[in-house]
Amino acid sequence: MTRQPRSVLRTPPAFPESALPSSVQKLQRPEALVKAQALAFLIFEKHDLRAAESFLTDFGMCSVSRTDKQLLMRGAGPQPCLLLIQKGRRSRYVGAAFTVRSEADLVRLEAEANARRLPQGSVPGGGSGVELTDPAGNLLWLVTGQQPLNRLPLREPTHALANDPGQLRRVNAMVRPPLEPAAVVKLGHVVLQTVDFPGMAGWYMRHLGLIPTDVQYLEDGSPNLCFFRLDLGSTPADHHSFVLAGGIEEKYEHSAYEVLDLDALGQGHNVLRANGHRHMWGIGRHVLGSQLFDYWFDPDGMEFEHYTDGDVFTADHETHYVPLDMSGIWAWGDDVPASMGVKRNFDTVFRVARLLRSGRLSLERLKLLGRAMSPARPWL
Ligand SMILES: [Fe+2]
Repeated sequence: MTRQPRSVLRTPPAFPESALPSSVQKLQRPEALVKAQALAFLIFEKHDLRAAESFLTDFGMCSVSRTDKQLLMRGAGPQPCLLLIQKGRRSRYVGAAFTVRSEADLVRLEAEANARRLPQGSVPGGGSGVELTDPAGNLLWLVTGQQPLNRLPLREPTHALANDPGQLRRVNAMVRPPLEPAAVVKLGHVVLQTVDFPGMAGWYMRHLGLIPTDVQYLEDGSPNLCFFRLDLGSTPADHHSFVLAGGIEEKYEHSAYEVLDLDALGQGHNVLRANGHRHMWGIGRHVLGSQLFDYWFDPDGMEFEHYTDGDVFTADHETHYVPLDMSGIWAWGDDVPASMGVKRNFDTVFRVARLLRSGRLSLERLKLLGRAMSPARPWL
């Protein structure tokens, strides 16, 4: 039997920005126009609204309305919708909507960023909003004044009564989580891949006031992936509401939805499997953000993540820098699935050749990206 090198068991180093090695470049932060307050909902186009609704119901969301042209899905929280799905010829990610504090923020975005006013009635739950297009062509909506819905009832979390060695919280009682879809409580984050990481990162920080929580850098010290959180001052914000990963295409990677606890994650996994949906990765625990995760493919092969128990930080928590490699993605659980890597096919070769020819990607950077994606857990 071959012994695995012990070095693969290391926890990746994390440098606070104030003690950054000189070989690592800081992610430049532009001045923010507004500070987004929440990730409100995502906008997709889907060819088959019924199939989308069926998957999302098994995934733990509830329909608000469905017509021939549009499907609205909500979670158990007060947000009027988490997904706005429009009927389209093909299935694609269209964009994200964030809330801002007031109408004054919308006016500022119109004046200083040429934001377009959304027609009345286009924001689910009412209110008003403006629209921007990011450098990759995705929409960004900034909205305010949506009317909250009543929360849907949720069972008590099981971890509140967990028995630890030395601390018994549950005596003469059992753990019997119901076999049911993992009720989605809220939309947590969306992850996009981009060819122009610095450009897209600067653009989203400027238009949303995002704070880099963890920046991951390539071997040459250049930032190439960032987990951004909302600037909510002294109110704790999720470790990331928005993530950008540098790569070889402009692409929706996944979106993630918070569920009640680990038992909801596990029973929801059973329901999705039993109903024939395609599993992608999990259950495991992430390193950056710490969430317990479980990833699924929707009927169009787009990734949707269930998570629970993520980190939260106030605005004064310092940005940290971590080398970009596969070991930083997850602490435990199954190996990263092949579908998360670059597909080895003609499309990829053609795409890379085009990027190299146009100068948007250098050979050196392509090699650095390839090295960052090398396997992290040889024993899996
Ligand atoms: Fe995620």
